Amino acid sequence: MASKEFGRSLREDFFFESGYTPLNHGSYGAYPRVLQKTLHEYQEKAEAFPDRWNRLEMYPELRKCRELLANFLHCDADELVFSPNASSAASTILRSFPFEQGDKILHFTTAYVNINSALKFARDHHKLELVPIELKYPLNDDAITELVKETLAKEKAKSGRPIRMAVFDVLSSLPGVLFPYEAVNQICQDNGIITVLDGAHSIGQVPLDLHKTDSDFFFTNCHKWLFVPRGFAVMYVAKRNQGYLHPSTINAAYQAHSDPQDTSSFEDEFSSPGTIDHSHYFCVAAALKYRESLGGEDAIMEHNHNLAVQGGALVADILGTQVMENDDRTLTASMVNVELPLKKDIALSSSDIAATIIKKLVYEHHTMASPYYNNGKWWVRLCAQVYLDLDDFKTGGEALKTVCQELNSL
Ligand SMILES: Cc1ncc(COP(=O)(O)O)c(C=O)c1O
Repeated sequence: MASKEFGRSLREDFFFESGYTPLNHGSYGAYPRVLQKTLHEYQEKAEAFPDRWNRLEMYPELRKCRELLANFLHCDADELVFSPNASSAASTILRSFPFEQGDKILHFTTAYVNINSALKFARDHHKLELVPIELKYPLNDDAITELVKETLAKEKAKSGRPIRMAVFDVLSSLPGVLFPYEAVNQICQDNGIITVLDGAHSIGQVPLDLHKTDSDFFFTNCHKWLFVPRGFAVMYVAKRNQGYLHPSTINAAYQAHSDPQDTSSFEDEFSSPGTIDHSHYFCVAAALKYRESLGGEDAIMEHNHNLAVQGGALVADILGTQVMENDDRTLTASMVNVELPLKKDIALSSSDIAATIIKKLVYEHHTMASPYYNNGKWWVRLCAQVYLDLDDFKTGGEALKTVCQELNSL
């Protein structure tokens, strides 16, 4: 039973300035005020006796955080390591995986911008070939799995190196939609392909069971939907793959492994990337406690999903457009995508249209929702969250309507 009501009254639990309508939780997340005490306590522990903390007492505490997260994600603590963010986790995997020249990587055009760049870097650095699949939404899950199967069949018919790795989202960023990651993971692994799941938006937004999914690699941002202070991603590496990976910052524990199943240096190589402030890692327990105080994971996810569905419909109504959904209604979790009523012939480049919308939302309307272009239309992603209610979506919808009218009159 939740002790607090979801909605606007929860806004005071967070640090938001008054008058701000926070409809873009997905980009940077936000953490509740109660965690600040924990954050400062751990910073003080480090300051009180830096050697005792950094050399001795910090490591058992880090282990406890990994155990908490392993329990939450349904995997072993030995399979989890920390990383500052999802971009850094993706770069770690793509830089250090021992590709062979000519290997191919399957990926989707809707990947997050930094991940797309990391893929290009991997292509150039390891001399690989990228195999992109373009996704034009709305798409049913079956349509996506069919595209994957068709692409794999086409690639198999070609000569040259096979597809070695596939990189795909659990929930994509723009559009903010749920991707059929379990089905795609299965198809890829059945074809001998190593799978990397970008779950940046997933922890705290959708239930996860990493052992059931059994991907080869997975990472997620605790600072987005789990309410932990920023700069905290967790990366899962199945034990069978731990010998493949080394962190981007190499430390004293480095060992070369000829066997991917050699797990001997994995924990030590990742646990100390030089001297950093680890204090936000120790806020996991407090974040989970705060979430329990709201009624727990199911209650949070139910509120956020219902609000995304109803809020999206309200914004589409205000704008006279449509929500991006497929026939099976599987796209919307806690983020919803609504078409923007923009003319085709606005005399600005796409990047200028997006930048103008963002600046107007931020400075003239004290809100934010991410605009983007997909399948010949402009859309906006709005994020539901525990501290929002339908009135906030109304505020966002009206702001978007004004901004679109202004752009259409340019
Ligand atoms: C799908 C996806 N992957 C990766 C990232 C990168 O996250 P970060 O900026 O924390 O590295 C984001 C950021 O929003 C994202 O949406």
